[in-house]
Amino acid sequence: MTDANTAELTGRRAIVTGASRGIGQAIALRLATLGAHVICASTKAGGCDATLDRIRGTRGSAQAAVVDVADEASVNAFAEATLAGGAPNILVNNAGVTRDGSFLRMSAKDFDAVLATNLRGAFLTCRAFVRAMLKTAAPRIVNVGSVVGLTGNAGQANYAASKAALHGLTMSLAKEFGSRGVTVNTVAPGFIETDMTASLPDAVRQAALATIPLGRFGVPDDIAQLVGFLCGDAGAYITGQVLVVDGGMTL
Ligand SMILES: NC(=O)c1ccc[n+]([C@@H]2O[C@H](COP(=O)([O-])OP(=O)(O)OC[C@H]3O[C@@H](n4cnc5c(N)ncnc54)[C@H](O)[C@@H]3O)[C@@H](O)[C@H]2O)c1
Repeated sequence: MTDANTAELTGRRAIVTGASRGIGQAIALRLATLGAHVICASTKAGGCDATLDRIRGTRGSAQAAVVDVADEASVNAFAEATLAGGAPNILVNNAGVTRDGSFLRMSAKDFDAVLATNLRGAFLTCRAFVRAMLKTAAPRIVNVGSVVGLTGNAGQANYAASKAALHGLTMSLAKEFGSRGVTVNTVAPGFIETDMTASLPDAVRQAALATIPLGRFGVPDDIAQLVGFLCGDAGAYITGQVLVVDGGMTL
């Protein structure tokens, strides 16, 4: 297919953090399918090889980059190297971790580690790239949150807090940079089949499945499709929102 719609991100540069697998890989693939050049960032050299393989054959293109979003120096070095190749139009803050556990046993270390990646990481990347993005066409920031940032979840106090706060960051940046044409949104997945959810006990998975009206877990592409929409022309007037993609789980 060569209609304008499928190529609408041609000429755009997109950054996707945590692009080695799961939802980040699907987002990188979707943006490349729409024609973008995607900078696929992961914590290790070679981490995005599988993603780059999948992007070959799309109309877009890709390159790999290494960053630990929890580390300010690493983010700044990543930004310097990336900006040397041109300003990004699109920044997708997808990198995320869990350190689940009952609240009474939750260590401050595990609390801090989750906030450092899921919230502070998004702050650091936004700060590193947004100035350059202001000069580009149709600048878009998409933060990957979670439905538990809206509902809370027993055993995920750290993770839920990080994702709820991420929405505060989203709304604030939407207000601060709206007049410069930047849209900033949070996409909040429900239960998506990835490495992050693969290790959950079967009883937890079955209990979650019973709460999903559509009767199935999501797949990474369910999230990637919405990110592609937000980054395209159709998303131009949507900003500061949390968009839930959960099969109806939070109804
Ligand atoms: N899978 C789900 O059900 C689900 C639900 C809601 C939200 N999410 C969110 O979606 C995003 C992607 O999750 P996933 O399910 O694909 O998980 P995943 O564990 O498969 O992938 C997470 C990615 O983030 C990267 N990452 C982790 N820490 C990083 C750091 N410090 N710096 C750079 N990259 C780092 C990992 O290397 C990996 O590429 C996360 O933000 C997660 O919180 C997932």
